[in-house]
Amino acid sequence: MKKILMLNGPNLNRLGKREPGIYGVRTLKDLEERMIQLGTEMQMEVVCFQSNHEGELIDKLHEAEDTGIDGIIFNPGAFTHYSYAIRDAIAGIACPVIEVHISNVYKREEFRHKSVVAPVSKGQIAGLGLLGYELALDAFKREEGKEEE
Ligand code: DQA
Repeated sequence: MKKILMLNGPNLNRLGKREPGIYGVRTLKDLEERMIQLGTEMQMEVVCFQSNHEGELIDKLHEAEDTGIDGIIFNPGAFTHYSYAIRDAIAGIACPVIEVHISNVYKREEFRHKSVVAPVSKGQIAGLGLLGYELALDAFKREEGKEEE
């Protein structure tokens, strides 16, 4: 059974309250419960972690590799656009990362158009709301099938 980590970065603990016109009305708790439930239905274990602190996210990336996590669904929030430390942490682990953004960062402010983590990620999903996280989980599930071929 694959074990997937859903990692959310700064300000995502405020989902539901934070700019609902952009990020929607569902809370982080709703998202985490939905992902764990979906994981169960898909025979995958989903574990969740959110932090507003860069170092804690980096520690979690390292730990993911050490504890045998098979894939990481990661929304690094604003760190996406400038954290070389997070980029290096992703580059330094073998565990694949799918980068997710709730909003379509490419039709927002220019500083959001650049992701420093995209070049070291397996793929990126942006602009599909919370559905993006579910699609990332599905992608890891389908990969499992490919590995067995
Ligand atoms: C975000 C987009 C980022 O630019 C922003 O800083 C966030 C959320 C998204 O999910 O759309 O915090 O990653």
